[in-house]
Amino acid sequence: MPTTPPAAGERRNPSAHRADAAPAPGHPHVVSPHYGDAKTVSPSLSGHNPERKTAPPFIPGRRARRVGTGEFLSPQKGAKRLLHDGRTSKQRKIGTLIEKKPQGAEDDAERASGPRKRVFIKSFGCQMNVYDAQRMADALAAEGYVEAAVPEDADLVLLNTCNIREKAAEKVYSDLGRLRVLKEGAAREGRRMTIGVAGCVAQAEGAEIVARAPTVDLVVGPQSYHRLPALLARTAKGAVIDTDFATEDKFDFLAQPSRAAIRARGVTAFVTVQEGCDKFCTFCVVPYTRGAEVSRPVMKIVAEVRRLVDAGVREVTLIGQNVNAYHGAGPDGATWSLARLLARLSEVPGLARLRYTTSHPNDMSDDLLAAHRDLPALMPFLHLPVQSGSDRMLAAMNRRHTRADYLRAVERLAAAQPAIALSSDFIVGFPGESDADFRATLDLVAEVRFAAAYSFKYSPRPGTPAADMAAQVPEAVKSARLAELQAAIDREQAAFNARCVGRIFDVLLEKPGRHPGQMTGRSPYLQPVQVMADAAEIGSIVPVRIDEVRVYSLLGRRLPAQNPTTDGAPHRSDALTAGA
Ligand code: 5AD
Ligand code: SF4
Repeated sequence: MPTTPPAAGERRNPSAHRADAAPAPGHPHVVSPHYGDAKTVSPSLSGHNPERKTAPPFIPGRRARRVGTGEFLSPQKGAKRLLHDGRTSKQRKIGTLIEKKPQGAEDDAERASGPRKRVFIKSFGCQMNVYDAQRMADALAAEGYVEAAVPEDADLVLLNTCNIREKAAEKVYSDLGRLRVLKEGAAREGRRMTIGVAGCVAQAEGAEIVARAPTVDLVVGPQSYHRLPALLARTAKGAVIDTDFATEDKFDFLAQPSRAAIRARGVTAFVTVQEGCDKFCTFCVVPYTRGAEVSRPVMKIVAEVRRLVDAGVREVTLIGQNVNAYHGAGPDGATWSLARLLARLSEVPGLARLRYTTSHPNDMSDDLLAAHRDLPALMPFLHLPVQSGSDRMLAAMNRRHTRADYLRAVERLAAAQPAIALSSDFIVGFPGESDADFRATLDLVAEVRFAAAYSFKYSPRPGTPAADMAAQVPEAVKSARLAELQAAIDREQAAFNARCVGRIFDVLLEKPGRHPGQMTGRSPYLQPVQVMADAAEIGSIVPVRIDEVRVYSLLGRRLPAQNPTTDGAPHRSDALTAGA
């Protein structure tokens, strides 16, 4: 449907009613689109921030809309920095996910059925944890829990933890120290506060957590969330630990969110389709904390997506630690690939946009590339972690692909969908990384022209092969390399954003904007876009011409609906073919 010629040297998005226009990139193994505690993402679209640990400015998949104040957590510097998944760093610290009762409603409920229990959930790390926190909130809502705006008011505080890097894991213990004080204060008032640790630190450390922080009443691993209400009931008699890899499918037992809870979470949603990882990269704890790869059956996913869409969701991001290795049971008895699942979901009436994250380069199968070519709902922004540009490091990391394999995957993607843009993850200072290895990574960043990327200093994780490797890189060297890599990523990102100016994007309107009359939406590349629009239009996709790159978002002008919704993307594939 584009009717405006693409600018010289740019490619037009071939698909008829794609919402996108720009060339651009993005992803989530956590917010790397995958994990990150620290998705310390770039705080600004253009400016350099020496404090940032990771890269990307804007790439948000979704926001956690419930924002309490979480003051027991020391706010990070620059608390409003925008993270990869669309939340600000302050929101990430907090957000619980149970539907908030309208003023007065809770009092009525209390009169009718006694006082409600209140829960406060703090989620660290990846989008999988965001989703899990929602499902825990749904399970607890079914038991009569409502959201506490601050942990001080809660009867139950759950820390949904991340173990991907040491810093993320250690944060849990500093939070537990603060929670112990709150719990003691509550006890003095004659109130019981239950403290639970969930997520990957719970899985990895189990009883160790209670030994180190006796204030903890419950330790529950990611595969046991469906048992949460029963486990909580047992905490009255002492600390409870459940880190089993359950044989039953937890999703069969987890309560579904109410329609109101879905609406409260906004017009975008995550849906877990796959969990675990069989790849065993030598730096990574995921195969140990999340277990082997398991895929949910197709029709259960379809039912969940339908339910979300019926309640107003327009965009769904399919998540999994290794999502493109999805191999779920189809309704025909065959094993379906991610591409087949995406095609099926794109038929759900009312669902406008699909994304998936995080992917491994080796699993970019031909049918998935064809899905990028053929499915207008599939957004042209892919998070494809590479970790390093050096073959020597890739081998030591057990990535099972070379730099050339990665570049080939990128080329195939660009050939299938010229509007595609990429984001990635990088690790600097992996054991044995030489200066030449690091230069190879910088060189790859320049070659691929990522629209965004996350970068991390290698963090040894107990029990992983790389933690025991000789030639650990000194901290100072890691820091210097991280700064240099981030500067390079920033330059690419700024260039990408600059190429968006003048483009027409379809923008999904998500929430009120910064100024009266303004709304914030998302481009196909997950960039926040500020545009004048009516709040009644939340959930609509509107064509917007991008006028300006601002610090936290793009600024655009709305076009009449009959205007083209797709324009040539400022595309990295052009750069590739030009040999950039
Ligand atoms: N140290 C540093 N970064 C890591 N990641 C995973 N494990 C580690 C580690 N031990 C990064 C990878 C991955 C992202 C989610 O986190 O880049 O893609
Ligand atoms: Fe970790 Fe590698 Fe699996 Fe990603 S592919 S979850 S980095 S082991």
